[in-house]
Amino acid sequence: MEEPSATAWQKVNRGDDAVIVTRALTKRYRGGQLAVDALDLTVPAGSVFGFLGPNGSGKTTTIRMLMGLIEPTSGTARVLGQSMPRATRAVLPHVGALIEGPALYGFLSGRDNLARYDAADPTADPRTRRIRVAAALDRVGLTAAAGKKAKAYSLGMKQRLGLAAALLQPRRLLVLDEPTNGLDPQGMREIRSLVRELASDGTTVFLSSHLLDEIEQVCTHAAVMAQGRLITQGPVAELAAGARGLLVVTTPDAADAARVLKEQGVADVVVTEDRDRVTGEVPEDDRELADLNAALVGAGVRVRGFGIERASLEDAFVALTGEGFDVAG
Ligand SMILES: Nc1ncnc2c1ncn2[C@@H]1O[C@H](COP(=O)(O)OP(=O)(O)OP(=O)(O)O)[C@@H](O)[C@H]1O
Ligand SMILES: [Mg+2]
Repeated sequence: MEEPSATAWQKVNRGDDAVIVTRALTKRYRGGQLAVDALDLTVPAGSVFGFLGPNGSGKTTTIRMLMGLIEPTSGTARVLGQSMPRATRAVLPHVGALIEGPALYGFLSGRDNLARYDAADPTADPRTRRIRVAAALDRVGLTAAAGKKAKAYSLGMKQRLGLAAALLQPRRLLVLDEPTNGLDPQGMREIRSLVRELASDGTTVFLSSHLLDEIEQVCTHAAVMAQGRLITQGPVAELAAGARGLLVVTTPDAADAARVLKEQGVADVVVTEDRDRVTGEVPEDDRELADLNAALVGAGVRVRGFGIERASLEDAFVALTGEGFDVAG
């Protein structure tokens, strides 16, 4: 008999509950640049999905295809169950989007920019416009600057205004391309907590970022891109768990500890600069771990700390790509 959870998982795998599904989605720009290469993406409903990749890895190109702004060269994209770009007009009213460098009227105030944007949306109710504009400004922390002309806004304020535009109406899906770009640390924290709040209201949030720790802090799921190709996708916890953690021994006898660990067959043994920390590759099973600890103590090493540091998404990225998080040439 099949377990119900297995059925649910198969459903997720097939993309039945998915808000975004792409199959072999590919974009080659006219100049010949292959920006997105056979991308299979599945974004589950209700997730906060981080779309992670270094500069130039194809994030914005993918988002433009998802929003029906550019045609794919080949492959398919479905958003909220409908094919893009064919269903753009039916789909976009349910999607709030912030895409690289929001278009603003510099001579209008932030508030008037939002009112104008809302007026261009045929599904928006003009009777509630004022109140929705005020609420959106408040959500992104722009109330005090609402009357200022947009051309006098800082980069971070423009980014907030773009985000406010995406929040004028309740949406099933928010697509945010680098939403914290240009924000200071406090602003980044505010956006992160806003994203969590929106997600807890049931909105699926798809956000791109080149900041690993940002994705780790706010996302339930992530996909990792490099040079237009998908490296991996799945729940963030599983992605990070895919990379082995780091064995860490804290001791005043670092040199001895390093020697013992090497004798015991631990790979990549490194004594850190302050010389009271030795790290190495985590052994395959727990019994070996206990044996290592015993070997250290047996050799007279004064072990003050012995444990495994959890792998971060960054470790996973490096493990997967065999390289650092650098821009492709
Ligand atoms: N309009 C265009 N014409 C030709 N090539 C383009 C165009 N837009 C992007 N590219 C190229 O496609 C690749 C992917 O670019 P894209 O903007 O999708 O990356 P990204 O992941 O969003 O990067 P970033 O983190 O810098 O925003 C890059 O090599 C870029 O130079
Ligand atoms: Mg981009």
